[in-house]
Amino acid sequence: MNRIDMTSTYLVTGGAGFIGSNFVHGILNAYTDVKIVNVDALTYAGNLENLESVLDDPRHIFAHADIRDRHAMDALFALHKPDYVVNFAAESHVDRSIENPSVFTETNVSGTVSLLDAARCHWQDGDGWGMHRFLQVSTDEVYGSLPLEDSSALFNEKTPLNPHSPYSASKAAADLLVQAYGDTYGMPVCITRCSNNYGPYQFPEKLVPLVINNALNHRKLPVYGDGLNVRDWLYVEDHCRAIDLVLREGRSGEVYNIGGNNERANIELVKTIVEYLSRHTDAAISTELIEYVTDRQGHDRRYGIDASKIKQELGWEPRVGFDEGIKLTIRWYLDHVTWITHAVSGEYESYYEKKYGNEVNV
Ligand code: NAD
Ligand code: TYD
Repeated sequence: MNRIDMTSTYLVTGGAGFIGSNFVHGILNAYTDVKIVNVDALTYAGNLENLESVLDDPRHIFAHADIRDRHAMDALFALHKPDYVVNFAAESHVDRSIENPSVFTETNVSGTVSLLDAARCHWQDGDGWGMHRFLQVSTDEVYGSLPLEDSSALFNEKTPLNPHSPYSASKAAADLLVQAYGDTYGMPVCITRCSNNYGPYQFPEKLVPLVINNALNHRKLPVYGDGLNVRDWLYVEDHCRAIDLVLREGRSGEVYNIGGNNERANIELVKTIVEYLSRHTDAAISTELIEYVTDRQGHDRRYGIDASKIKQELGWEPRVGFDEGIKLTIRWYLDHVTWITHAVSGEYESYYEKKYGNEVNV
């Protein structure tokens, strides 16, 4: 983002998580005269270390609160009167949703309604104050799964919602509620649906940082099923830039797909990471660490995004190619080993042992 002067107040939820914290850094770098109210419940995935360099920045106000807490949301809207609301807060890991679906409906569905309704009341009742946009950060996973056989098939914004996991079903439900608030009350809402992100500050339960962390510790690298499931990978900064563009220039009521145009089979991605690490760190890191493990239940085969709408309407395209992005990412984790150590020091070990313990050498 180019640094420019602009006075706006953002209310960002989930800004201590992976994408949210990258968004907070990106906005503070891009605009000098801006205020960000960062609302986060600090679940296992929220980490104040992601925000360490901005905690003392007077433009950034951290509010430890749960989006399901309607009174807290009302108070934050009344106090800060945000121009832009971006809802990142969510339970975000498919595997955890398979183990415990209800926390996903609580945060992703009920939490979104609590936030939406607080936004609506203040938008309607505000004395001359107008919220310009409520943006729901959604996912390509709401569209379901594509076959591997037809690589030309892609999700566009008109593809019917067909989620398969409790995670994606809860995100699809939230999308419908956001649309309902736009249709019913005329609220200025937008939804973005992005493909898989990678980059700094991602919690190590997700594939990219999990593989980096395990490899550095000479642990097995668990690959689900045959390893041929395909995801479209986008560097997180490109996602954040797209979100800000949609906030400011998107059309109300619209959905925008965001993608990297960079589809990779999981096994290919894992081998790319291993190869980089073996060249730059430790020869003992090799593909021998890869272990095929039991497939995820209901594992979506392929995600592929048609992002032509956001390109045509708003001129957005990814700037960071995969070769550059994956190097930047691995380098970041190598330079932030203490961050990884802290991130995995809480409940992560017991989660990891329960999930992978019977199959791989923990
Ligand atoms: P994350 O799990 O890293 O972060 C989620 C954040 O939300 C954490 O800081 C957590 O503390 C906070 N949170 C959770 N429940 C909360 C609650 N009830 N109230 C307030 N805060 C709460 O997730 P992420 O990967 O950064 O994803 C952010 C958003 O982007 C999610 O909505 C996700 O569905 C969406 N998304 C993620 C990806 C991806 O590849 N990671 C891709 C597309 C869309
Ligand atoms: P993940 O990072 O959990 O993102 P999502 O499920 O939202 O796409 O997983 C990315 C892909 O990697 C997905 O196809 C599942 C697979 N995967 C593994 O093969 N092994 C693992 O240990 C994990 C966590 C994921």
